[in-house]
Order: sequence, then structure tokens, then C-alpha cells
Amino acid sequence: MTQPLDLQAVSAHYGTTKVLEDLSLSVQAGELVSLLGASGCGKTTTLRLIAGFLTPTTGSIQLGGRDLTRLPTHKRDIGLVFQNYALFPHLSVLDNVAFGLKQRGLGSSERRKRAMAMLERVGLSALADRAPGALSGGQKQRVALARALVIEPPLLMFDEPLSNLDAKLRVDMRVEIRQLQRSNGTTSVYVTHDQEEAFSISDRVAIMNAGRLMQFDRPEVLYRRPANTFVARFVGFENIIPFKVVAREGDTVTAETAGMTLRLSQAAYGAIPDTFLLATRPDGLMVSTDPAAEGLPARLGLRTYLGRAYQYQCETAAGQLIANGSLTNPLEAGTGVKLVPMPEQCTILASEGTR
Ligand SMILES: Nc1ncnc2c1ncn2[C@@H]1O[C@H](COP(=O)(O)OP(=O)(O)O)[C@@H](O)[C@H]1O
Ligand SMILES: [Mg+2]
Repeated sequence: MTQPLDLQAVSAHYGTTKVLEDLSLSVQAGELVSLLGASGCGKTTTLRLIAGFLTPTTGSIQLGGRDLTRLPTHKRDIGLVFQNYALFPHLSVLDNVAFGLKQRGLGSSERRKRAMAMLERVGLSALADRAPGALSGGQKQRVALARALVIEPPLLMFDEPLSNLDAKLRVDMRVEIRQLQRSNGTTSVYVTHDQEEAFSISDRVAIMNAGRLMQFDRPEVLYRRPANTFVARFVGFENIIPFKVVAREGDTVTAETAGMTLRLSQAAYGAIPDTFLLATRPDGLMVSTDPAAEGLPARLGLRTYLGRAYQYQCETAAGQLIANGSLTNPLEAGTGVKLVPMPEQCTILASEGTR
């Protein structure tokens, strides 16, 4: 039942405006993949293409080896869950869930049995006779989920399904969605602009920007090894410092940036190109008051309190950087320090323009 989804070099236009460019994405059978990116980057457009509400200008879409590109929407059998629930207000909860089964020609007792079983799974069997208007946001979204799942679709798609719920319920619901998806094994595409949500529930995440795929990988890889500066900044590598290699000796690479020489182990980073960007989160720059420390000279600016650390705006010859310092030793604005990159918290990116 569960099937792989394959998008090959898909482009899409609204009128003459190109909104998706050359998007290729393969989702394995049973996998949950998120599309993650800022509002307007093309996530919903991608779902509309897969669902058949929009036809791609180029490229192809296959589900389970079957070409969907020219197949009408109603023949695609895709389960959809939207942000605004899209429940039928005049039908009971049970009839909302049973709706797709009726369309597929199942008899009324079979419909009732399957819809009740599905409501049971989302914890709503007690509310089967209610009208959607008498449900909370979280309950409505459970009905929408049950309605999508009950037809046993080969593919489930979610478009920001939790955006209308409050923070605590969002976290509970995403765990529920993941558990249901896991136990059903339904191939799923999940759209969100929330990084934590995407990372927490997905097997793999596709990070998008302006209609293009920036990186597609497991959350752990995106978080630790972003492939480019866009993804690096997106996942919190706020410091991106340009370096030039000045010497190579065995495993050791010596590189320079304005005001600092750094020795890097090739084994720790993989191949280091002659020019590169060193990227770190604020936690990856140690704030040292030792003048002999091997680090980037900096003058501290504004200090903010994060609870687990103090965060400093730092002026350096390589531009403004952000570093987190210890709680035990708050430093004043104007203090001269060294910012020492912590190798295990740094990653190396190709310089812009050389990729
Ligand atoms: N029906 C439409 N007509 C014209 N432009 C549209 C339409 N729908 C979306 N767009 C534009 O296409 C781009 C991608 O939109 P969308 O896929 O909805 O982004 P997302 O879901 O990531 O927020 C945006 O610039 C948006 O303004
Ligand atoms: Mg959208």
C-alpha cells in the first residue's frame, strides 16, 4: 500500500512568475519528509503539484512508479490535512471521517465501522456525533487527520497542520501525528516553517529557499553539517568567517583570517579547500580573556542574558560575530577578548561563488 514519491526536475509558474525551479525530491515508501522554509518559498505550491491542483511546467511526479503528472486530482487518492481543518460543518464528526469511504462506494455499516475505528485511534470516539463547530482546534485537527487516514491513502500530505494550535498542543499533536504515521507506515510529506517541528518529526527534511531546494537530508546532518551558507544560517550557524589556507603539513592545515591564524585537523573536518568559510553557532566560540589564547581578537559589545549563558555581540576584524560566554564571569562592554573556535562545534563551507 505504502509507496515511494518521486519528483524529477519540477518547475512551476503562476502566470509568468516562476515559483519553483528544478525541484527534485525522492521520498521513500513509508518515509516522512518535511518541506521547511520561510513563508512564500514554495512549500504549498509543491503540495499543490503533487495533489494535482496545479500542473508543473516541466518535470514529472511519480507515486509508486505511476506517473501522476497528468492524472486528475480525484484519481490520485492522496490524503490531505490542512491548517484550517476544512471539515464539513453540516456533517457530524463520524460522517466527516466516513465521507471519503462513501465516495469510494463502501456500504454504510462498513463506513461506520472503519470511521469509528479511526476515531478510536485519534482518541475521539466519544465525540462521533458532535458537529465540528463544537470541537476545539486540536480536536478538529484530529478529525481531519482521521478523515485523511481512513481512506488508507498511498500518500499523506500535511500543510502547516498545527499552525492554528497553541504551543503546548502543537508539541503533543506532532508526536501523535508521528506515532500514527509510523504505525501506518504511510509515505508522508509535511509542510512547516517551524524548524523544531520539522526536525522533531521527520525522517528527512528538505530545506527550501525561493522555490529551490537548498539541502535534503536527515535532521542530524542538516543540524551539524549544513551544505551551504543559507542552510548554515537557517540552522543557527550565525558566525561565518572567511579563511585562506597558508600552509599544509600532514594532517594540519594552517589558515588565516584578518587578525587570526588557525590550525585545523584535516581528519576532523574532511577535505579543506584553499579558501573556505568556518561556520559556528554562538556556543562554538569560546570567549577567552587570556591574551595568549589562540583566537580571533574581539571587542565585546552588547551583552544579553540567555538563562544558560551570556551572549555577546563582538566586533572583530572579520566583522560582527556572536559568542556565548559563561554565566560565572559576566564581562563588560568594551572588554578586549579572544574568540576561540571550538573544533567540534565548527563546520567548513565552500566559499560563496566557488560552488
Ligand atoms: N495563486 C497564486 N497566484 C500567484 N502567485 C502565487 C499564488 N499562490 C502562491 N503564489 C506565490 O508563489 C510563491 C510560493 O507560494 P507558496 O507555495 O504558497 O509558499 P509557502 O507555502 O512556502 O508559503 C509566493 O511568492 C506566493 O506569493
Ligand atoms: Mg504555504
